Amino acid sequence: MIDALTQLSYVVATALFILALHWMNDPKTARHGVYGGMAAMLIAVLATWAQPQVIVHHVWIALAIAAGFLVGWPLSRVPLTAVPQRTALSHSFGGLAAGLVGTAEYFLWLGEAQANLTPFRMTAIVAEIILGFLTFTGSLMAAGKLQEIKWIPQRPVTFPLQNAVNIGLLLLAVTLGAALVLNPVASWSATVFLTIIGLALIFGVMLIIPIGGADMPTVISILNSYAGLSAVAMGFVLDNKLLITAGALDGSSGLILSVIMCKAMNRSFTNVLFGAFGKVVAAEAGTGPRVYKTETVEGVAQLLEQASLVVIIPGYGMAVAQAQHKVRELYDQLKKRGITVKFAIHPVAGRMPGHMNVLLAEADIPYTDLVEMDEINPDMPQCDVALVLGANDVVNPAARYDKSSPIYGMPIIDADKARTVIAVKRSKNPGFAGIDNELYYADKTWMLFGDAKAVVGELVKQLSGGGMH
Ligand code: TAP
Repeated sequence: MIDALTQLSYVVATALFILALHWMNDPKTARHGVYGGMAAMLIAVLATWAQPQVIVHHVWIALAIAAGFLVGWPLSRVPLTAVPQRTALSHSFGGLAAGLVGTAEYFLWLGEAQANLTPFRMTAIVAEIILGFLTFTGSLMAAGKLQEIKWIPQRPVTFPLQNAVNIGLLLLAVTLGAALVLNPVASWSATVFLTIIGLALIFGVMLIIPIGGADMPTVISILNSYAGLSAVAMGFVLDNKLLITAGALDGSSGLILSVIMCKAMNRSFTNVLFGAFGKVVAAEAGTGPRVYKTETVEGVAQLLEQASLVVIIPGYGMAVAQAQHKVRELYDQLKKRGITVKFAIHPVAGRMPGHMNVLLAEADIPYTDLVEMDEINPDMPQCDVALVLGANDVVNPAARYDKSSPIYGMPIIDADKARTVIAVKRSKNPGFAGIDNELYYADKTWMLFGDAKAVVGELVKQLSGGGMH
């Protein structure tokens, strides 16, 4: 009876996981997606906990859940800009958990029930520990790089024959794994098992060090898919169908997301993994004393008031400044004057997929006014004012023609085709790719230096004051 109930709960949880992913496709239903995923996880945990062989250990399980809460609660409080590294940390815990479960199962069966160590299970265990432990160290490195921890170099670390060494390490681990599958209970098997773990841990570090900070979000979603695959292997080891399906969903969605991000940056998958991106990023700063034109808040407010189409192009700076609520006020002010206001959303603006959508949705800006890059670009020549708000790389025209630029080939939002460009940022510093942006020197561009939240706040004040005259 309890078994049938468990299986039924697993089917419900699986269906909810799939629906949750489906709901995430649309801003209208995204919240349902979050709740659906949470409900699925709760059902999965409770159904597993209720099993007779598990429930006898309820004290340990309660302790483990409490420990999870202790770590998870502070992690859930990080600011949105730190979500990529937080996600990397979660993957590292997922990988570690899978690796430890595989290790525990192996040694348990080695000691008590060697007949359980069938070639099929051993293959799953080997896959689980290699993927789990490499995800553990790889994700920790990725989180460290994103958090800009001092002793983890941000720049890609490269050395001769690096790819050969890395592939050699992995091949060695897989070969030892094959030996273990054939001889799971030999006198040397336990030592080989631990050696594979060591190799996987080292491989995880080696995999990440040649990759520059700019590619980390993509790498994180690749690691996400590894963590998912290790959960699939764990599902086979534990004969748990829910783990297999949830892991497969996790693995494939991670992979799909990485592909989407690579496409949006016009990078190939292998280029991200083996390309040491970021090395070339030494900014070509010395192209002579080019000058910016600056504009005052009053001037920009006037320009905006006279426009009929304003396109706001938000970027990482809007996220840092947490300017989205002020942006909403600006949007309201302009709408009140009958001005059409659209938001141009670049797929990799900010530091994680959907970063801008999440922020603007938080400020209740109607998602019908958020327009994807491909759809807004044809309208840019009709745009009176393009307001570039803390965005840099995603509007850099060098991406179109400068073959030496690290962002060459990345599709951009055509801010430079608008009639006037207003760029809001704090200084003359470059963006993530570390390169200069000629858009700022263009004849039609005016800079409005300052923190995005403060500047937009002043613009709103100006416009609301102006409205009373
Ligand atoms: P960036 O090119 O990083 O430029 C952000 C700009 O915001 C900076 O130039 C900075 O200039 C300005 N800024 C920072 N804090 C600010 C504040 N408080 N107020 C006003 N401005 C501020 O951002 P982007 O245009 O959004 O491009 C994203 C970059 O990240 C791309 O290179 C992309 O490839 C990379 N990336 C993104 C993702 C995803 S999934 N989103 C994944 C991988 C890589 P100041 O310092 O002068 O203020």
